[in-house]
Amino acid sequence: MLGCKIERIMQPGLFITFEGLDGTGKSTQLRRAVQYLRKCGHRVVVTREPGGTCTGERVRDILLASRTGKLAPLAELALMYAARAQLLEEVVRPALARGNVVVSDRYNTASFAYQGYGRELGAATVRAFDRVICGSTQPDLTIILDLDPERALGRALGREQQRQSRPDRFEAQGLAFHKRVRAGYLAIARSAPERIKIVRADQSIGDLQVQIRALIESLFARRDRKREMRES
Ligand code: TYD
Repeated sequence: MLGCKIERIMQPGLFITFEGLDGTGKSTQLRRAVQYLRKCGHRVVVTREPGGTCTGERVRDILLASRTGKLAPLAELALMYAARAQLLEEVVRPALARGNVVVSDRYNTASFAYQGYGRELGAATVRAFDRVICGSTQPDLTIILDLDPERALGRALGREQQRQSRPDRFEAQGLAFHKRVRAGYLAIARSAPERIKIVRADQSIGDLQVQIRALIESLFARRDRKREMRES
């Protein structure tokens, strides 16, 4: 059994996002983190991007389906933010206002990495969308699972083969694209080390889980310290 170091107290919610290349084991780690938070008594709302709402899931189909073919990079970015706007309105902001913990499988850091770096639109263009759509709704903690792009892509493509499905539009991009995305993630993490944490995904699932749990615990501890300072 896991020990619970993060008690639930009523206050505005926390927003935690998981990021990384496809094939880094992000979804497995997210599930384990959610289990831990729930075991500690937190109300957790889990979501994913692109998607997480009826409209968002339809937009996801367009974005991921290989039959969509080539999308103009700006159209791709705008669709990501369209789905995000819907998710913020329907799910994320109401949950945070209720004091829930929101855990999302990807959020805006993915747009900076994939569209800003991968599609080479640049950070300023992504930031322009982000200011309008996300505004102050920024994650309290972003965990990036980092893995060599060759390995990550190999794992992602292997998984699709096992499921007998075709790679999605992003998985079908070559290695050079995924290398740019990875470089993007690392650069973004360097620019906000307080909030964005890199963990090495080439560890055992258990070791990674322990490391991620420690990051979440320190987020709660930081939040509690801030609250105590405000109250004293
Ligand atoms: P994901 O759900 O992680 O894929 P999978 O179900 O295969 O694990 O993410 C879908 C893809 O969308 C992923 O390749 C990254 C991409 N993406 C962007 O390019 N920009 C974004 O802003 C987001 C949220 C995702």
